[in-house]
Amino acid sequence: MQNIGIVGTGYVGLVTAAVLADLGNKVICEDCNYQKIEDLKKGIIPIYEPGLQDKVLKNIRAKRLKFSHRLPEVVKKSKIIFICVGTPPRKDGSADLSSVENVARKIAQNMKEYKIIVSKSTVPVQTGEWVKRTVSMLNPHKVEFSVVSNPEFLREGRAIEDSLHPDRIVIGVEDKKAERTMRQLFKPIRAPILVTDIKTAEIIKHASNSFLATKISFINAVANICEKTGADVNKVAEGMGLDKRIGRAFLRAGVGFGGFCFPKDLSAFIYIAKIAGYDFELLNVVQKINETQKQLLVKKIEQALWIIRDKTIGILGLSFKPDTDDIRFAPALDIIKILRNEGAKIKVYDPKAMRKVKKELKYVKLCQDPYEVAKNCDCLVIMTEWDEFKEMDLRKVKRLLRQPIIIDGRNIFEPAEMHKLGFIYKGIGR
Ligand code: UGA
Repeated sequence: MQNIGIVGTGYVGLVTAAVLADLGNKVICEDCNYQKIEDLKKGIIPIYEPGLQDKVLKNIRAKRLKFSHRLPEVVKKSKIIFICVGTPPRKDGSADLSSVENVARKIAQNMKEYKIIVSKSTVPVQTGEWVKRTVSMLNPHKVEFSVVSNPEFLREGRAIEDSLHPDRIVIGVEDKKAERTMRQLFKPIRAPILVTDIKTAEIIKHASNSFLATKISFINAVANICEKTGADVNKVAEGMGLDKRIGRAFLRAGVGFGGFCFPKDLSAFIYIAKIAGYDFELLNVVQKINETQKQLLVKKIEQALWIIRDKTIGILGLSFKPDTDDIRFAPALDIIKILRNEGAKIKVYDPKAMRKVKKELKYVKLCQDPYEVAKNCDCLVIMTEWDEFKEMDLRKVKRLLRQPIIIDGRNIFEPAEMHKLGFIYKGIGR
């Protein structure tokens, strides 16, 4: 059992806290957002993540999981402190590390005995060195400490599952004492542990996300060739993915990747490479292909409708992927903006993101279900592959639509079946 502090209760922080508490550790979390901590104390979870609420409630009841407004209390009560604060993108693509620095400073000022300071936030290479320097300089009692990089690889929507059964755990560390403690902490999670130096661990995270984004842009580029030549990108992806060296994952063609991780991590990695003196051209193209996918989708809508102005367009799915209510950098929001600028009227529905979208999209009609969206619409656009959309009564949808047009940005339907039902149907790359 370890005493653990978690600073930042976003996706990474809260899931890490719940999982480590569930493994029997005593965990105390802090967040600079006062209301968030007040809510969490009452068991109110700020995000939708399957299984998270149960785990949080269970561990609050078992008194293994606590929430506090006071960072000094967290520092005092914990031996291992995880920094899980946001590292949002700045205008130039670099990561904004002010929250990481701020937390490092506060930890330094409040340490009275040995601490292991672990960065779980996605940070650029060399951040660990800066954390070490900051803590050394501002630590009035000259207390001994270790800095560790332990990048997180969980996916939103599968966060608990990914944390309990990760493909690997990466520990970037400089000393044996911290390595032993971290190995011990993660022992109950039976996953391969890779121990590296801190900089290597930091790069593993950025390189992994950038590689996955590259796979997506690659298959999207292939989708465009398929479309022009009459091939089927889903089958191409299957045929490629059966080769174990390529693998089937992350070869789903669509309207492109979004979310708070891939877009920002790509930009940050490109930026770091540039600062280090290397022009990572490949990743610039990955970004470009991702942007083009959205424009191509709008073109498909235009080709189906002829004129977009004054048409009513229904958007199904707002979150950047299914099983999450996260709409940050969601392709749907970009598409809505473009269509709106072209003069379309927009109706939207998402199974989980409606509450979040209410604040962001003031000029769209929010609907209760896909059928309300379809009613009197000129075109339906599928932006997220929620199961609810796959299971829609398509005959009913067709009756409700003003024109039977579906543009499927996630390839959830089979073109032949859709044409048989009488839809004008366009997917991606087939
Ligand atoms: C991603 C990584 O998968 C995690 O390993 C990582 O920990 C996380 O970022 C992070 O850095 O925090 P996440 O952003 O939650 O996780 O979502 P993914 O499931 O990776 O999907 C990202 C985007 O790619 C979504 O918009 C999804 O629709 C899109 N995607 C994914 C495709 O367009 N095609 C695919 O084949 C797969």
